[in-house]
Amino acid sequence: MKKILAAMLTAVLCMGLLTACGNAAEETGQAAETEETATEAANEAEPADAVEETAEEAAQPEAEASVSEALADGVLNVGTNAEFPPFEYVDDNGEPDGFDIALIKAIGEKLGVEVQVENMEFSALVASIGGKIDVAIAGMTVTDERKETVDFSDSYYTAVQYVILPKDSEIAAAADLEGKAIGVQLGTTGDFIAEEIAGAEVAQYNKALDAVNDLVNGRLDCVIVDKNPALVFQSKFEDQVKAVDGAQFDFEAEEYAIAIPKGDTVLAEQINAALKEMMDDGTFDELVKEYIEGSDE
Ligand code: ARG
Repeated sequence: MKKILAAMLTAVLCMGLLTACGNAAEETGQAAETEETATEAANEAEPADAVEETAEEAAQPEAEASVSEALADGVLNVGTNAEFPPFEYVDDNGEPDGFDIALIKAIGEKLGVEVQVENMEFSALVASIGGKIDVAIAGMTVTDERKETVDFSDSYYTAVQYVILPKDSEIAAAADLEGKAIGVQLGTTGDFIAEEIAGAEVAQYNKALDAVNDLVNGRLDCVIVDKNPALVFQSKFEDQVKAVDGAQFDFEAEEYAIAIPKGDTVLAEQINAALKEMMDDGTFDELVKEYIEGSDE
C-alpha cells in the first residue's frame, strides 16, 4: 500500500513537474523502494510504465469497505432547502419536489434504499451531513470552503449567479453593483459574491423569494441568485423585474453536486455510478425536460 501511495504521489507530482521528473528519470532510471517515504519517492522517479501500472492497481476499490455506513439502515436521509425552483420547492401537498428531489429518489432506487427528504435551512445543510442527514442535494455549488467539511459527488449541473433587477434599473456591469443594496439567500454563493462587492449593503434572507419580494417593493437595488431560480422569479414578476446573466458581471460558472460525508468514498462511488447510468441511459435528460426546461415560462 505504501508503495502504491508513493507511486501515486510520484505520478501526481510528475504531472505537475513533467520536465523535472523527466530529468530525474534519466539520472536514476529505477523504481522507488518500498521503504522510502512518500516524499523521498516523490523526489526520485519511476519509469513511466511502472507508474502507470501501480496507479491502475491503486484505482481498484478496497475489498473490505463495500457498504457505506450512511446506508447501513437502508435509508438515505437527504437534506434540502425547498426554496429553489426548479431544483426544489414545496409542492401542492406540502412535500419537497423538483429536479433534485426526483434525481436523488432515482439514485436511491438504484442503490436499493429508501429516500427520506428533510427540508431545512440552506445554511444548515453542510454542517448537518453525517449527523441529521446523510447527504444534501440543494443546487449546491462545489466550493473549496465546503470541501473542507464535506465531499462532493461528480457534478450534475453547471450554473452561474444571475442578477435580478427592477425592470428600469441601469445596473449593467460589475462596477455598478458597488455600494448597492443587494439581497441574497443566506450562506449561498450569491451571498459570498455580494459580500466581496465594495461598499455593498448585503441583506441576507432565508428564502431567495423574500429577497425578490423586497426588490419588487423597492427595498433593494438587486438580488443575486442562481440562474434557474432567477429565471423562475423573473417569470413570476414579469412586469417588474429582469434577470441578467452574471457573466455580464464577471461571475464565474458554478457546478452543482451532491454533498456527502467526508471520506465516504464508498457512497461517493455508488452515487457517481448511479448518476452516470442515468446520464448514459437518458433518464437524466428526461428529468431535465420534466423539471428544468420550461420552468421559466
Ligand atoms: N448554488 C448556490 C450555493 O450553493 C445556491 C444554492 C441554494 N439552494 C437552495 N436549495 N436554496 O450556494
